[in-house]
Amino acid sequence: MLNILAISGSLRAASTNSALVAALAHNAPPGCRVTVYDGLGRLPIFNPDDEGEHTPLETAALIDAVTQADGVVVSCPEYAHGVPGGLKNALDWLVSRDAAVAKPAMLVHASPRSLFARAALVEIMRTMSFALCDDVLEIALLGKKPPEVESILAEPANRQAMHDALNAFAEFIRSR
Ligand SMILES: Cc1cc2nc3c(=O)[nH]c(=O)nc-3n(C[C@H](O)[C@H](O)[C@H](O)COP(=O)(O)O)c2cc1C
Repeated sequence: MLNILAISGSLRAASTNSALVAALAHNAPPGCRVTVYDGLGRLPIFNPDDEGEHTPLETAALIDAVTQADGVVVSCPEYAHGVPGGLKNALDWLVSRDAAVAKPAMLVHASPRSLFARAALVEIMRTMSFALCDDVLEIALLGKKPPEVESILAEPANRQAMHDALNAFAEFIRSR
């Protein structure tokens, strides 16, 4: 069984990115378990002075979750043509340790126009030595309200796309 950690870069209650990672968890193919990380908003702001023996508990939980996972899936909005601070903060906590090194990762997208954030995230995660899978999944949920998001994510074609993307990611993980 592959354990995949799914992280949404949005803290919004009605987040389309969070809905997408939740739907991935519900559409995982046999052999994959997707767990949604929910600690992003509780992480303290990264400070290199707080590493090592000073590592905060919430940060230690994130590091453990990434370390234990066979792979990480990230779904992230774009803010002002960049990666939102909350997700960048979480990634910064993972820089000076082994958790991210060679860790398989896949990007999924809830907005078709988040092109600056996508490129930035690829650059950041490659710099951190994540092993980025070439496969990506995009389901356009931008601007949709929760009931519509739910019905789009329940469409058979989108459920199949989530299933297929996770299968491709599982194959990528197993090939490494
Ligand atoms: C502060 C802020 C800045 C944003 N900047 C951009 C942007 O530069 N480009 C873009 O495509 N969308 C931008 N958006 C729109 C969000 O990316 C979009 O609403 C996204 O769906 C939010 O994700 P969520 O539903 O998971 O919260 C911005 C939204 C906010 C709140």
